Amino acid sequence: MLEQRRILLIVAGGIAAVKVPDLIRRLRERGAKVRCILTKGGANFVTPLTLAALSGDKVYTDLFDLKDESEMGHIRLSREADIILVAPATADIMAKMAHGLADDLATTALLATDKPVMIAPSMNVMMWTHPATQANLATLQSRQINIVGPGAGDLACGEVGDGRMAEVPDIIAALNRFFQKGNRQGPLARRRALVTSGPTYEPIDPVRYIANRSSGKQGHAIAAALIAQGCDVTLISGPTHEPVPDGVTLVKIETAEQMLKAAQAALPVDIAVCAAAVGDWTVENPAPSKIKKGAKPPTVKLAQNPDILATLSKPGSKRPRLVVGFAAETNNLIKNAKAKRAAKQCDWIVANDVGTGTGTFGGDHNTVHLITADGVEDWPSMRKQAVADRLAQRIALALNGKPQS
Ligand code: C5P
Repeated sequence: MLEQRRILLIVAGGIAAVKVPDLIRRLRERGAKVRCILTKGGANFVTPLTLAALSGDKVYTDLFDLKDESEMGHIRLSREADIILVAPATADIMAKMAHGLADDLATTALLATDKPVMIAPSMNVMMWTHPATQANLATLQSRQINIVGPGAGDLACGEVGDGRMAEVPDIIAALNRFFQKGNRQGPLARRRALVTSGPTYEPIDPVRYIANRSSGKQGHAIAAALIAQGCDVTLISGPTHEPVPDGVTLVKIETAEQMLKAAQAALPVDIAVCAAAVGDWTVENPAPSKIKKGAKPPTVKLAQNPDILATLSKPGSKRPRLVVGFAAETNNLIKNAKAKRAAKQCDWIVANDVGTGTGTFGGDHNTVHLITADGVEDWPSMRKQAVADRLAQRIALALNGKPQS
């Protein structure tokens, strides 16, 4: 997968830069062509000479080196690559990327590029979990930037937790997955889909939130089934414990507003499947600090959340060709689901009964009815993965010229 791939490797200033020589070696063993940009901070951990020797190419270090600019400007540098990999990606470079700052060669190349970007974050656990870094991460994810790691473990600063740069084999695997996408086979090859999955969390204050019991099982299974049909899938997911299906581009969100933004950023797509249990309401004014327990309970004022399915279904140039929604109902399942299809203007509704005792929420099985323009199909009870496979096959049939029956 990496044979002849051109990787522009940006090495920023973190201790994990010491893993970069090994990364370059392993990439070149697999046939990749590696060219490096070394930031000023990165040069504290690894020398340009080491990178030049291992990559077999010139190492670019300074935006204002006029000779480099005449040889190869930052724009050409950023375009003559199949992917830009930032490893290690420090909190600083992530913040600069999120905000569009360009004060050195690395950040200028990142802003000027029209190529895909992958980052391997590496930093202290407090820096990683800081809301500022997490907000920057969400921004980068909403722009389809690929993220690999970080992992948990001993950190160079002596603390333990999330923030360790992904190991070299994990970075190689992520690059392989990335390039595999462009080579997918199957009836949905060269099609793009977005899938929403899981619950949303709506904050009341920094420690409390309103959520629901969605496990994300069905949505994640649909993402995996679409991948199996060769589709390029962006999975936009609320917090879940489900493993991330191989090959998806995952965008992690918490609130409905973030899910909508991520969905819109993923457009244009051929297919949208909205399987997330999006909270209907958000808290109008979440408290900036923890609400203290007082004599009386506080009043929480709710506000309407955006409807992602209805927004995506609106006629317009960016409307996906096929929009599929779910209807989780406890009674009058078919009648309510049909009304939902009309109200939201989506093409299909997968209706499922989530009443007490059905075990649908969090369970492995689902009994669904597919509601299309032509009527209702009752599918037998099956595993969520089987529902997902059948749905993905139906989607492939619909998009490949057969009538949407
Ligand atoms: O209106 P209701 O929540 O029952 O509709 C369910 C369908 O609408 C699901 O496909 C769900 O993913 C989608 N939905 C959405 N945004 C919302 C509410 C629901 O995309 N705010």
